[in-house]
Amino acid sequence: MILVAGSANLDFVVRASHIPAPGETVLGRDFKTFSGGKGANQAVALAIAGGVATTMIVSLGNDAFAAPLEASLNAAGVRLHIKRVADQPTGTAFICVSDDAENAITVAPGANDSLRPDDMIPLADLAQCSHLLLQLETPLPTVTAFAIAARQQGVKVVLNAAPAQSLPGELLALLDILIVNEGELAVVANHAGSIEECLERIHVPCVVVTLGSRGACARVDGQVLKQAAFPVTPVDTTGAGDTFCGAFVAALSHGQNVAQALRQASAAGALACTKPGAQSSIPTHAEVQTFLNSSIAP
Ligand code: RIB
Repeated sequence: MILVAGSANLDFVVRASHIPAPGETVLGRDFKTFSGGKGANQAVALAIAGGVATTMIVSLGNDAFAAPLEASLNAAGVRLHIKRVADQPTGTAFICVSDDAENAITVAPGANDSLRPDDMIPLADLAQCSHLLLQLETPLPTVTAFAIAARQQGVKVVLNAAPAQSLPGELLALLDILIVNEGELAVVANHAGSIEECLERIHVPCVVVTLGSRGACARVDGQVLKQAAFPVTPVDTTGAGDTFCGAFVAALSHGQNVAQALRQASAAGALACTKPGAQSSIPTHAEVQTFLNSSIAP
């Protein structure tokens, strides 16, 4: 079993020709809501794209926004431990997706900010759990406390350091795996240099860097592994990074090595770019395998 402790957001998405610059108003087109939030997206990716038993600890408001989020997680087969808060709305995200499939996201954390260190107590026994997957859309003290509890029980700790923020050494020292994009890598490394220079400054056993259309790389056991991108025509890149994280950790839990897991995760992330929305775009494990078998990419 893999445990996710993290956020769930209802995504309010509008498509537009381009993402507005500061001070600019853009007349968009169609509007839709989707189930999202980095934690929930990664939990769904673990369960659907990764095919692993997944449990999630999540904080939701007592409002109408929570229902579609619960429904999406339930439909994916994610076992839920919900903290229900009365004084905060369910998390929301406001997303503009441009015609070239890029996005700009503003999150209103709401109930996600109410997740506390002692919310892990119902899951005190982690004997069945191989990995804990965390992100940074819940409070840092909670993320750190969960990482400590997991480490104490021999559970591997994986952090997707998104959205970017600098991390205390105490938290970095608890990690087995760190997953970041290039921007997040620079923030965590506190360095504006090359990927190699940034990687040298981060003392986590395995660091994975997603590079969008340039693929992904990982530094593990002092070796740098590279994975080329799978060519797809992107429609919406929202949730592609989360799909990568879930599929990567699922592959490791199935016994794959880091190189194999990078390939699996890159294929799943690429497929997630071909459909709109976050959780709605996550491919099934079978779809990923078919894509891997048919693709001309490495
Ligand atoms: O990573 C994509 C996610 O970021 C969206 O679903 C949105 O909710 C924000 O958390």
